[in-house]
Amino acid sequence: MARSQWGSRLGFILAAAGSAIGLGAIWKFPYVAATNGGGAFLFIYLGICLTLGLVLMLSEMALGRASNAGAVGAFRRLAGGFWPVIGYMGVLVCFLILSFYSVVGGWTIAYIGKALDGSIMTADAKALGGIFGSFISHPLQPLAYHAGFALLTLAVVVGGVQKGIEGLSKFLMPALFVLMLLLIARGLTLPGAWDGVLYFVTPDLSKVSGAMLVDALGLAFFSLSLGLGIMITYGSYVDRESNLLGSALWVIALTVATCFLAGLMVLPAVFAFGFDPSAGPGLTFITMPAVFAHLPFGQLFAVMFFCLLLLAALTSSVSLLEVVTSFAIDELGLSRRTAACGMAAGIFLLGIPASLSLGVWGDFLVMGMNFFDLLDFLTSKLLMPLGELLLALFVGWKAWPVVRGELSSGRSPRLMRCMRGFCMALAPALIGWIMVVSI
Ligand code: PHE
Repeated sequence: MARSQWGSRLGFILAAAGSAIGLGAIWKFPYVAATNGGGAFLFIYLGICLTLGLVLMLSEMALGRASNAGAVGAFRRLAGGFWPVIGYMGVLVCFLILSFYSVVGGWTIAYIGKALDGSIMTADAKALGGIFGSFISHPLQPLAYHAGFALLTLAVVVGGVQKGIEGLSKFLMPALFVLMLLLIARGLTLPGAWDGVLYFVTPDLSKVSGAMLVDALGLAFFSLSLGLGIMITYGSYVDRESNLLGSALWVIALTVATCFLAGLMVLPAVFAFGFDPSAGPGLTFITMPAVFAHLPFGQLFAVMFFCLLLLAALTSSVSLLEVVTSFAIDELGLSRRTAACGMAAGIFLLGIPASLSLGVWGDFLVMGMNFFDLLDFLTSKLLMPLGELLLALFVGWKAWPVVRGELSSGRSPRLMRCMRGFCMALAPALIGWIMVVSI
C-alpha cells in the first residue's frame, strides 16, 4: 500500500513544527526556566537544541524517509537485531507522555471556560494561585476535561494524516505568534517587568548544576518532539526531493522562537505582579490571567489565548497518538479506528492517577515524586535522553550509509564526516555525561 504523503514541503514543516510547538514551549518551558534560575538555563537549552537537537532531528527525518516506515519499522527495515528496541521504547514513551499531556491539555479547556465566565479576570496573585490550585486538586473536574482533550485528539487522528494534522497547523502558528507578541508588548510595559526580562536573559553561571543540565536536555528533546520516532514517522511521508536540512532548521527555529517568546510573555509578568517564579507547573496558568486583567478587551484575549494554547497542544498530542496508533495498525494488524480508540482509552486511564496525584492522591509518592512528576521524570529525564543516545549510536555506527544517502546531495563531505563523528561519539558521550552528573 502506498504511504500517504504531505501535500507540500510547507505542509511537512508546519506539521512537524505543530508537533514540536505545544505545551512544551508555552507551558513547560517558562516554569522550568524559572525554577532553574532563568538566564543560564535559556542559553544551555538553546545550545542543546542547535547541536544535539539539530543533528538528531535530521537523523530521525532521514531514517524515516529512507525506510519509508514508522518508529519501529524503520529500525527493523534498516538493521533488525536489537535496534527496533529504540522504536518500541519510543512508542511506549509517546503513550506515557500523552497520559499526562492530556491532563494538562484538559486544563487549557477548563481555562477557556474560566475565561468565558470571567472567573479568572483578576490580577490578584493569591486569588489566581488559589483558583488554579483548587481546580487541579479537585477529584473530578480535571478528569472530565482530560477526557475531553483525549477525545478531541482521537477525533483528529481518526480523521487521517493530511486532513487532520496539516489543516490545523497552517492556521494555528501565525495566529499564535501574533497573539504572543501582543501579550509580550503588554507585559513589558508593566511596571517592574524589566526585572523579569533580566532574570530570563542574564546568564548566572552559579545556577548551573547537573540537575539543571538534565532539565535542559529533557526539555530540549521534549519540546522538539525528539527521541520517540515522531520525526521518523513524519519523515516517512516526505517525498524524495525535499531538502531535509532546511526543514529541520525551520522546525527548530520555530520551536526555539516560541519557547523564547513564551519566556518573554510569562516571566516579566511574574515579576511585575509579584508571583513566585518557582511556582512550578501552574506558572503559565496562574500568571497570564493577570496580564489579561490589565488589557482592554482582556477577557476576549484570555479566551483567544487559551483557545490557541489548546490548538497548539492538540497538534502535538495528535502526533503522539499518531505514533502509537500506527504502531498498533502495523504491528497488531488493527484497523485505524480500533487502534486509535484502544490507545486513547489506555492513555485516558493512565492519565487518571496522574491527575489525581496533584490532589487527593498527592501523598502517594514513588522515589519522592507524585505520579505526575514521576511520569515526567521517566519520560523527559530518563527514557527520551536514553532513546536519543541509542539513536545517535545507531546513526553513527549502523545506519550511516543510509542517512548519508538521504542528506548528502550538495553537501560538503567534510560536513558529513563531522556529523557522523558527532553521532558516533560526541553526542552519546554528551547525553551520557549529562544523565550521569544529574544523578
Ligand atoms: N513537543 C511537544 C510539546 O512541546 C510535546 C511532544 C513531545 C510531542 C514528544 C511529541 C513528542 O508540546
